[in-house]
Amino acid sequence: MSSPIAHWDPEYQRRAATIVERYPDVRSAVMPLLYLASLHHGHVTEEAMEEVAALTGLTAAQVQSVASFYTMYKRERVGRYLVSVCTSISCFLRGADEVLAAVEGATGVVDGETDDEGLFTVEHVECIGACGGAPALQVNYEFVEGVTPAKAAELCRWLRDARPEVVLGDEMQLLFGGRPSFDPGAPEPEGAIAPVPAFGPYGSARPGTGGGR
Ligand code: FES
Repeated sequence: MSSPIAHWDPEYQRRAATIVERYPDVRSAVMPLLYLASLHHGHVTEEAMEEVAALTGLTAAQVQSVASFYTMYKRERVGRYLVSVCTSISCFLRGADEVLAAVEGATGVVDGETDDEGLFTVEHVECIGACGGAPALQVNYEFVEGVTPAKAAELCRWLRDARPEVVLGDEMQLLFGGRPSFDPGAPEPEGAIAPVPAFGPYGSARPGTGGGR
C-alpha cells in the first residue's frame, strides 16, 4: 500500500519519517505530524487530518479532536504574518485593546480575519506567558514585549514594506518593543519563516529555504 503522504515534498516525507521513528507508539506522533501536515497544506485541512490519521492509525475524528483543541493548529488559511495580540488580564490592564485596535488599523484586518492578499492574519489570544513584559504580541509566534499602539502599528507597516522572509523576535523587540519580561539569554538565530509559523525541532524552513532540521 502506498504511503498516505507519497505526494508530499520528499523533504517533508523525510521529516515525517523522523517523527514517526521517535515515538514507540506512533499515535503519540499525532501532534508533530499534524504540524508538519499543516506546513504541507498551508493549514490543517480535512485532507491533512486524514493523512495524519492514516499515518498514526487513529481515526480522522480523533485527529480532528486534537486539531480543534489547540488554537495553534490553524483550520483556515493563515496570512504570511500571523499577528497575535495578547488580551489577557496583564496585557489588558496595560492597553492591549488599544494595541489590537492599532494592529487592526495598520493591517486593515480585523481580529480573526486574513486579508485577501494573504499577507496578514490578526488574532487576539489568551496569555502568551510574557505578562512581565505586557502588553505583548507575537508575529509568527515570535515575541515582541512592551509594545505601544504606535509601535505595534509601526511594526505592521514594517512587515508590509520589508516583507522579511524570516521573522526574528530579537530584531522586532529591538525595533518595536519596550521593556521585556526577562532577558531571553542567547539570541535566537533562526526565527520563524513565513507563511506558516514554525519552530524547531520539526524545522523552521520550507524545503529549499535552508535552516530546516
Ligand atoms: S497576560 Fe498577556 S502575556 Fe500574560
